Amino acid sequence: MLGKKKQILFSPLEQGKALKKAVSFVPKEIIEQIKNSKLRGCGGAGFPTGLKWELAYNAPGKQKYIICNADEGEPGTFKDRLLITDHAKKILEGMCLSGYAVGATEGIIYLRAEYRYLRPNLIKAIDEMTADSLLGKNILGKNFSFNVNIHLGAGAYVCGEETALLESLEGKRGEARNKPPFPTEKGYLKCPTVVNNVETLCYVPYIVINGPDWFKEFGTIESKGSKLFSISGDVKKPGVYELEMGTSVKEVLDLVQAENTKAVQVGGASGVCIAEKDFDKPLAFESLPPGGSIIVFNKSRDMLHILKNFMEFFVEESCGQCTPCRDGTFRLLEGVKLMEQGRCSIHYLKVLRDLAQTMQIASKCGLGQLAPNSFLSIVDNFKGEILARDRAPESVHA
Ligand SMILES: Cc1cc2nc3c(=O)[nH]c(=O)nc-3n(C[C@H](O)[C@H](O)[C@H](O)COP(=O)(O)O)c2cc1C
Ligand code: SF4
Repeated sequence: MLGKKKQILFSPLEQGKALKKAVSFVPKEIIEQIKNSKLRGCGGAGFPTGLKWELAYNAPGKQKYIICNADEGEPGTFKDRLLITDHAKKILEGMCLSGYAVGATEGIIYLRAEYRYLRPNLIKAIDEMTADSLLGKNILGKNFSFNVNIHLGAGAYVCGEETALLESLEGKRGEARNKPPFPTEKGYLKCPTVVNNVETLCYVPYIVINGPDWFKEFGTIESKGSKLFSISGDVKKPGVYELEMGTSVKEVLDLVQAENTKAVQVGGASGVCIAEKDFDKPLAFESLPPGGSIIVFNKSRDMLHILKNFMEFFVEESCGQCTPCRDGTFRLLEGVKLMEQGRCSIHYLKVLRDLAQTMQIASKCGLGQLAPNSFLSIVDNFKGEILARDRAPESVHA
């Protein structure tokens, strides 16, 4: 669907053109192009893609891997599904370009279990590109080979976290690893590994063809280019939109014809929930980190009910490895239930806020570090509504 001003991923791409151009450069030059473009990862954290590739390029090791993170488990996010369905060859070309730049000959797509039905589509694209000498042995007649395999996940949200993903790929229980070492140094089978999101990889062929300056023309100072957003909730026109970085929440709401909006959840359950006072903010890493989804809630919605839903999700998905997340998510959910009953005192609410902040710094991986975001933002931005509940005569944890 059309977004504001600039479309990149939804504009046509001549298949193989980027690869043909890339092989006339040495790998380091491709890394420089991606670095100069200021492309940032679309999987959530916004890590600079060119820098990630450079780290993997510089890491010693004969065998290196490119992994496409297609786990897409964040509630409300369905943009990667659209890319896998309609733009599979862009993903594969992006992986192949990454392999060429980094010195990897093997690529793996880690595909969300629920997207199993898209596997044949990917296999067909791999076969066709191999027949066109854009994948496989001696690509375009050059001394460069790159194979892509597909690995199905098993339905755990934490396996989208890159190190838990690597454990899962290696056939182990999906639990986050300690960092460092980072995957670029010791990733899949202890080899240097690049893990990139589906969408990130799709921008790569466009940048190689059009150049980094073209990509940098769009967006904001810290967030270049465009971004896909899965938009759902109380809107007349839900769907996947490509929007220029820096588009404001207000512009998005107009675009999708949202009415009587009370709250907007930016970045899925791990993201933040903003109120009307912040609708002018731009979707950009330096302001509202964009993530991959926007969920709109109108004035009929109960914010505590929404918060409970998110907290139940985190309790369910915590891998249980570390205490701040395992016990913290449980305690936050318990607190929300007390709030529902009007039994949470102001003092205990403060204790819960402190716990949430502790989880942000003490949890081992991003799941536990980000799980308190929705708690803190809903409690802070909708305090009036939450505290206006009928209070029981005696509050527990007074
Ligand atoms: C709990 C959790 C789930 C995640 N799920 C995904 C996911 O489904 N897809 C994804 O690309 N990144 C996901 N990430 C981020 C990855 O760890 C990693 O940062 C990303 O794949 C790197 O790619 P990028 O640099 O292209 O963004 C998740 C992170 C956390 C903490
Ligand atoms: S933060 Fe949560 S998901 Fe991550 S390692 Fe700790 S318990 Fe597991």
